Amino acid sequence: MPVSLQNHGDIAVITVDNPPVNALSQAVRNGLVSCTQEALADDAVTAIVLIGAGRTFIAGADIREFNLPSAQPTLNDAISTFEASSKPVVCAIHGTALGGGLETALGCHYRVAVAGAMVGLPEVKLGLLPGAGGTQRLPRLVGVEKAMKLISSGDFLAADKALDAGIIDHIVDGDLTAGAMAFARQLVADGAPLKRVRDLQAALPEGRSAADLAAAEMKAIARRTRGQPAPQKCLESVANAVTMDFDAALQREREIFEELKAGPESQGLRHAFFAERAAGKVPGVSKDTATREIKKVAIIGAGTMGGGIAMNFANVGIPVTLIETAQDALDRGLAIVTKNYTATVSKGRLSREKMDQRMAMFSGAVELSAAADADMVIEAVFENMALKKEIFSKLDAICKPGAILASNTSTLDVDEIAAVTKRPQDVIGTHFFSPANVMKLLEIVRGEKTAADVLNTTMKIAKKIAKVPVVVGVCDGFVGNRMLHAYTRQAGFLLEDGALPQDVDRVIYDFGMPMGPFTMGDMAGLDVGYRVRQERGRPAANYRYSEIADKVVEMGRHGQKTGAGWYKYVAGDRTPHPDPEIEELILASAAAAGVTRHDFSDDAILQRCMFALINEGAKILAEGKAYRASDIDVIYTNGYGFPSFRGGPMNYADQVGLETVYQAVKEMFDGGDEWMDPAPLLARLATEGKTFADWDAENN
Ligand code: 3HC
Ligand code: NAI
Repeated sequence: MPVSLQNHGDIAVITVDNPPVNALSQAVRNGLVSCTQEALADDAVTAIVLIGAGRTFIAGADIREFNLPSAQPTLNDAISTFEASSKPVVCAIHGTALGGGLETALGCHYRVAVAGAMVGLPEVKLGLLPGAGGTQRLPRLVGVEKAMKLISSGDFLAADKALDAGIIDHIVDGDLTAGAMAFARQLVADGAPLKRVRDLQAALPEGRSAADLAAAEMKAIARRTRGQPAPQKCLESVANAVTMDFDAALQREREIFEELKAGPESQGLRHAFFAERAAGKVPGVSKDTATREIKKVAIIGAGTMGGGIAMNFANVGIPVTLIETAQDALDRGLAIVTKNYTATVSKGRLSREKMDQRMAMFSGAVELSAAADADMVIEAVFENMALKKEIFSKLDAICKPGAILASNTSTLDVDEIAAVTKRPQDVIGTHFFSPANVMKLLEIVRGEKTAADVLNTTMKIAKKIAKVPVVVGVCDGFVGNRMLHAYTRQAGFLLEDGALPQDVDRVIYDFGMPMGPFTMGDMAGLDVGYRVRQERGRPAANYRYSEIADKVVEMGRHGQKTGAGWYKYVAGDRTPHPDPEIEELILASAAAAGVTRHDFSDDAILQRCMFALINEGAKILAEGKAYRASDIDVIYTNGYGFPSFRGGPMNYADQVGLETVYQAVKEMFDGGDEWMDPAPLLARLATEGKTFADWDAENN
């Protein structure tokens, strides 16, 4: 049974035991109601304790049930059973009390927690609002302003902060059940009142109306939450706690919850939640797969990437040796690390003491032999195959047996690198994103011979250093950058065909990306791509090529760093300003290429860029370079700022409908450009009326 009742003398203990996180499935809600009724009917019981078994209290409603019709009893029904109880109900919290879990706790008369517990209403992160009284009870405990901030951000509070805020009443030292029972007995002995949160007043700061507070908060979060209805709805509903009576506001909260749950934004965010968890499951790796111990790490190359990669390990207390070719390069690398930490300290986000502890994890060397005792070596030298091969063959001779040898290459063939060693099973790709100490995504490149325990260890260590790891296969640009190339390529052709950089960037920004491709290019530096194109030479004639991007660089416009790129910039300001010179260049280049420019609607711009991204994603999936369409989504939401409320590019394609995507891809690209041939997998799924989610379900 997921909920059980046990009497300890005069105290009834109701335990929720629904692994892994005690989510409030229908069976749990049922059990809560029936166990409470049983305890109420038992004259020997004077008070009730509600607690969770296993690693946590209740982590919320069962998100998996959100795709099914609502079933009785509702969570509101269960909560009102405790709240109306004539015997004190004490909620005992460990682990996390989240969403419906905290709402359940708020329906109890008192709340106690262990010191390590966390509470929060993270529904907004799933595109929802708390739908079981959270927007009504929390402001009655912590005040309207604080409730608005907590609910619209979804932030968690640690137990001590929750105590200060009045969410919990007491912190238990030692055994939680015993502490909660003692607390309950004391309530009975003192004849303490039954504190029903619904009967308290929702407190407003003096001189402010609920509507003013909601408007001010909305203004503060408008940019970050653009395109998402949930944050606004959270604020509106908290404001209702002041302007409506409890039951009417509770009913309105439920209506909004149902509306949001049915919307595409919540579907996208729920998809993103499960996609991230699915990405942790890798074919050939099970819970029985061994792991290797990583107690010491060496990073080769202390440039843009090496220093940032090293910081991730130092942050979690793993000693890390940075290895460079010369002392001055090493000093430069370490100085950047120090500068990064110092900046975090000065922003108040890290204590000086913690910074010193982290810096103490670093050592430096100018000899590869310093990698001899490392359990994991990550190479981050220049992107040059000959150099990487030389380093890996030296590492093969130097490193201890069993050491994991990883390359941070962003484009090169990891199998070719592995082949120069006598231990290709120990070689793997770890493709960090820049800045490597900040970006959450880590593409883990599984080589043909990479051993399962090496992959497992790398996944585990990635999680330990707070990355979101996704396993990908060896191919040019791996998953993320390969798809990005298809997208930026089309953005480039749009210029020749009729749009301007500012048109494309506006549409992509409005779609929810942090910035459009041209602003992004200016930020990253246009010379990098230019050099790659020069090295690779012009593609074959059946691949379209536009010279505009090359001409921009040849004009000396390398992006923000030179004050001009696709846009012009005023010194000391990153705001892109459209430049007539670029427009002239575009018009002249289109004319020279014999292209007749025409107007593009916003929709047409969006489709051209996004459908190119999706089409390439479908090719990657069919080639087995990603295990799931949802893995691609995780890569895009965590590494490229793709809006999570759309779930990721492949989920967005499912939302649009694959038939629509396929027909548009065919119309836009068929025949003119081999690169953009419709992906056969996209064609097949569209014809069969299926989705990428169906493909994932059939293939995993
Ligand atoms: N419903 C269903 N399954 C859930 C779940 C939930 N609320 N929360 C977690 N799970 C599942 C995960 O999918 C995962 O399943 P898997 O092992 O099959 O992949 C498993 O539980 C363990 O989850 P994590 O891997 O995330 O475990 P962690 O220990 O890293 O994190 C956690 C635990 C902090 C509880 C995290 O899972 C979490 O943040 N969960 C979601 C919390 C949440 O958003 N709650 C609000 C739900 S909406 C709601 O309550 C509506 C209400 O207002 C009416
Ligand atoms: P970088 O040029 O900033 O740094 C490379 C460093 O390696 C230099 O400091 C150089 O002195 C050092 N180095 C060269 N040969 C060495 C040797 N034999 N032994 C020790 N150190 C040596 O390069 P960056 O940008 O850090 O890139 C490193 C790797 O990471 C490349 O493979 C690149 O493709 C990849 N990458 C880069 C990203 C980026 O945004 N810069 C993103 C993801 C991956």
